[in-house]
Amino acid sequence: MANLETTYLGLKLRNPIVAGSSGLTNSLEDLKKLDEKGIGAIVLKSIFEEEILAEMAQSLAQAQRPQTMYPEIYDFFAIDEMEDTVSNYLFLIEQAKKSISVPIIASVNCISADDWTLFAKRVEEAGADALELNVFVLPSDINHTSEQNEKVYFDVVTKIKESTKLPISLKISYYFTNLANMIKQLADTGIAGITLFNRFFSPNIDINALIIIPSSLYSTPNDIHISLRWVGIMSNRINCDIAASTGVHDGEGLIKQLLAGAKVVHVASTLYKNGFDVIPDMLATLDKWMNEKGYSTLDDFRGKLSQSAIADPAAYERAQFMKYFAGKNTTNL
Ligand SMILES: Cc1cc2nc3c(=O)[nH]c(=O)nc-3n(C[C@H](O)[C@H](O)[C@H](O)COP(=O)(O)O)c2cc1C
Repeated sequence: MANLETTYLGLKLRNPIVAGSSGLTNSLEDLKKLDEKGIGAIVLKSIFEEEILAEMAQSLAQAQRPQTMYPEIYDFFAIDEMEDTVSNYLFLIEQAKKSISVPIIASVNCISADDWTLFAKRVEEAGADALELNVFVLPSDINHTSEQNEKVYFDVVTKIKESTKLPISLKISYYFTNLANMIKQLADTGIAGITLFNRFFSPNIDINALIIIPSSLYSTPNDIHISLRWVGIMSNRINCDIAASTGVHDGEGLIKQLLAGAKVVHVASTLYKNGFDVIPDMLATLDKWMNEKGYSTLDDFRGKLSQSAIADPAAYERAQFMKYFAGKNTTNL
């Protein structure tokens, strides 16, 4: 049996498969099952910034309500229910830490650096091992500059770091004007990790009913490619761990991301589609492959095919595009 241990966010993991934040990381029952099936670490289902702010407002007079760019949330949410959401979340962390053997990473879905960031301290006190921030700023406002959109990420990190000593990971999308530089700048803020990438709800159109409908909630193995490219390009070039997320459905996807340089992979859709038994299956595939290749630890091959390590870095870039679309090699398409 190969040694599959790794570090991630400064934590020791028995293997590099992390249950990504989803509806399957929201109950103690499922967390226990993931643990039993051999998962390396678990990111809890995200709590929303709005839920945290609403709970804070509950205990304060109107005039003292926490600072937010979106005051209408106080009208939108039933504040009593939000209070339950927050205390249930903290209780889940406490319970998980008592009964789960692997690291528990809390998660907040946020859109601003408002006062919800004070919540990080409570997550730490509840016993979480790290905190992942799912920053959800879709650059869809035509009046916002890229600088305005990007500033939110840095403001969030600065404020969170004032509130907690926990290792922080940022989960981002690829909607940036200069993605590589943005990832580098974020890594330089002192975060412990960056998750590439979040998968947003995407709209689709029903041409018969003439309405907007959600596209598929779950990824397919083919969706791995955007993440694989950017993990490969960024690994060995930034000062924090990279977690690969989106489209890792099996052992092959896991191996590809490790070769590209990922510290760990996050899995969500495959747990829904294939059940929790996919975890031991993926681990067995990785172990078999490592034995065949003669690798005894992950560090023996991690990043071996990252852009910085290969002889032909253009394999990750435009040269390949030219090769196929400028009349060469098209017979293979
Ligand atoms: C049903 C479902 C719920 C999710 N909920 C969250 C969430 O609360 N917070 C979050 O950061 N990501 C959430 N995600 C995104 C996943 O963590 C993951 O980043 C994304 O699905 C891509 O990975 P995958 O291809 O393995 O599904 C959710 C995904 C699914 C399918």
